[in-house]
Amino acid sequence: MITEPPSPSATPDSESASARDDAAARAPLGQDRRRGPLCEGDRVQVRDPKGRFHTITLVRGGRFQTNRGTLDHDDVIGLPDGQVVRTPEGREFQVMRPLLSDYVMSMPRGAAVVYPKDAGTIIQMGDIFPGARVLEAGVGSGALTLSLLDAVGETGHLVSVERRADFADIARANVDLWFGRAHPAWDLQIGDVADVATLFEEGTIDRVVLDMLAPWENLASVAHALAPGGVLTCYIATVTQMSRLVEDVRSMGAFTEPIAWETLQREWHLDGLAVRPEHRMVGHTGFLMTTRRLAPGVAPQRRDHRATKVSDGLDGMWDHEEGWNDEAVGTRVSSAKKVRRVRRDVRAKAATWVEDPTPGPGDDEIDR
Ligand SMILES: C[S@@+](CC[C@H](N)C(=O)[O-])C[C@H]1O[C@@H](n2cnc3c(N)ncnc32)[C@H](O)[C@@H]1O
Repeated sequence: MITEPPSPSATPDSESASARDDAAARAPLGQDRRRGPLCEGDRVQVRDPKGRFHTITLVRGGRFQTNRGTLDHDDVIGLPDGQVVRTPEGREFQVMRPLLSDYVMSMPRGAAVVYPKDAGTIIQMGDIFPGARVLEAGVGSGALTLSLLDAVGETGHLVSVERRADFADIARANVDLWFGRAHPAWDLQIGDVADVATLFEEGTIDRVVLDMLAPWENLASVAHALAPGGVLTCYIATVTQMSRLVEDVRSMGAFTEPIAWETLQREWHLDGLAVRPEHRMVGHTGFLMTTRRLAPGVAPQRRDHRATKVSDGLDGMWDHEEGWNDEAVGTRVSSAKKVRRVRRDVRAKAATWVEDPTPGPGDDEIDR
């Protein structure tokens, strides 16, 4: 178990009673489940001999079975993280706690998630800082929410808005499961982001992140909530959405010139002399756009070059398009039946592992 080194001035004698009380009141946010020996109730990733990953929860007497061999949970409980267990048949299973990026990619979902490569970029380019007041919508399955909460920390404030109650339920269970309890900086609201944003006092939100079909519909309410200089980051799936968004940001006159880009992540194959990019990659996830709120009454800086016809704001490309929906932009959305199943399963898991850390039903990966 790793213990924090004492700070030079904080000896047991000098530590005030109130500081100790404060420390006791701050229950850890899952940190104890991310370090130290593997314990019963820990989620671990098992890499089977074929290189496939499986997420299981460790239970005394539990057994993980595949057609490539069997792993007894008791063989790793109590050992340091990072084990390779050899079965009697000579097969090896690697056992490690998942990283946040592993968790996000394997957690139950109702809506498409923001991939780790984009979540990392959003935190950096959207300038999400510890203690920040951040507004996020939509929440979907809660993937981006996890990174935003890590970035704002316990002293920040993240208001996450999702208009579908079933998705919000899935997100809450996913987030609670990761942190092991309700995150004190998180306020999950069901509703439309435009309604929530206008309730804030003008200019009091530091950062806004939108991941939704039609972010341009919310620019006025975001401009109301965002502090002068505050950053708006939008994650959009298609060029047509980006074009529409950028033109509306420009024509509103309340934001700086938008910047848009995409992040490509190409994994490499590392095998002897065959060191090269993998043949397959995730070719496209989404585009990112950032812009900053100008102070009220300040007009955007004029550009030197003449704008082309399509960048004339509301008369630009796609402005008259009415058919914005998930199908039209090619976004994958789970069926109602799948969402119902995911919601039921992940909530049962959260209820079992967050409120009562003893094993119980609902952990379908466990073969006892
Ligand atoms: C792609 S998902 C978000 C995924 C999420 N960022 C994640 O990483 O898991 C888009 C979500 O936005 C929600 N949404 C769309 N428009 C909205 C609005 N105006 N206000 C609140 N939520 C909205 C949808 O219901 C959907 O769940």
